[in-house]
Amino acid sequence: MKSIASAPGKVILFGEHFIVYGGKAVLCSIDKRITVESALTDSGKIEVRSSLGSISCAKDMPLSEIESTLRPIVYIAQKILSESGGQSGITINVTAEFPSGIGLGSSSACCVAAASSIVGLFSKCTKEQILELAIEAERTIFENTSGADCSVCTYGGLIEYHRDGQIVRLDFEPRFSLVIADSKMPHSTSQVVARVKKYKDENPAIFSLLRTQEERLIDDAISAMQSNDLALVGRKMSQNQKYLDQIGVSNSTLDAMLNVAYQRSYGAKITGAGDGGCIIAIVDDSNQQAVIRDLLEKGYDCFAARMDLRGVQHQIDNT
Ligand code: MEV
Repeated sequence: MKSIASAPGKVILFGEHFIVYGGKAVLCSIDKRITVESALTDSGKIEVRSSLGSISCAKDMPLSEIESTLRPIVYIAQKILSESGGQSGITINVTAEFPSGIGLGSSSACCVAAASSIVGLFSKCTKEQILELAIEAERTIFENTSGADCSVCTYGGLIEYHRDGQIVRLDFEPRFSLVIADSKMPHSTSQVVARVKKYKDENPAIFSLLRTQEERLIDDAISAMQSNDLALVGRKMSQNQKYLDQIGVSNSTLDAMLNVAYQRSYGAKITGAGDGGCIIAIVDDSNQQAVIRDLLEKGYDCFAARMDLRGVQHQIDNT
């Protein structure tokens, strides 16, 4: 028997970094997924294969000895195997429709899909239980995560995520789509978050003012999305980028990409941790192709993305 689960990647439309220190962020999941397939074995080992590498370890190997990027998956496998008792090993296969380390939530989608797939070998579980386990697992490599990314990867769609864990589903159907462009500069979310913390500690008054401004901006952006005022959503997005620039998570490559995107989209910003990774631009049918063409002409890798509405999906394969 194989237990197969997949979870979508995500973009942060508004609020990254500031959400780590309270308030809220707006995220949406995208139509690019990570799939995790797991099966029980009698090897006594946890064996993981993925595009990030492979690992084969005894099921009771101390977590601190596990190569960091795969540690959350091993954590989930160890926890579920030990709770279920008796079963001696597990193989886990991870496949991805998008690269890791580019700000599209590969680590969170992986934790969510792995939690659903591995728990699914033994029992049914709710999305709330999957989310709790996924966040716990992600904290084994990124202690300070806000939990926002795992939340949208679990539930899908467009959500408002509050730092206290409250999730408000934004049920209205915004008529925008996104262009995502990849800077090809990999980044480490936990390192960028640590750098922002240093900035915050050294500039408490400025950071606090920016946080207040960001909160207001998010409220305005949600109203603008609700009334499908794309020009206003775009302006809020570009304004959000200015705050991100101020806390030091942009760089010259990202700025150059944004300048191309600003020309014909409604607005653009980095998405996720920044300092590399991706930018997003808000578009609709009238300008999507033009924005993609402009970015490609300048040599940037980019693609159109739609919102995913399904969140984590699970199935058992008995063949
Ligand atoms: C990373 O995708 C988003 C950050 O806000 C960190 C977090 O919320 O855990 C930078």
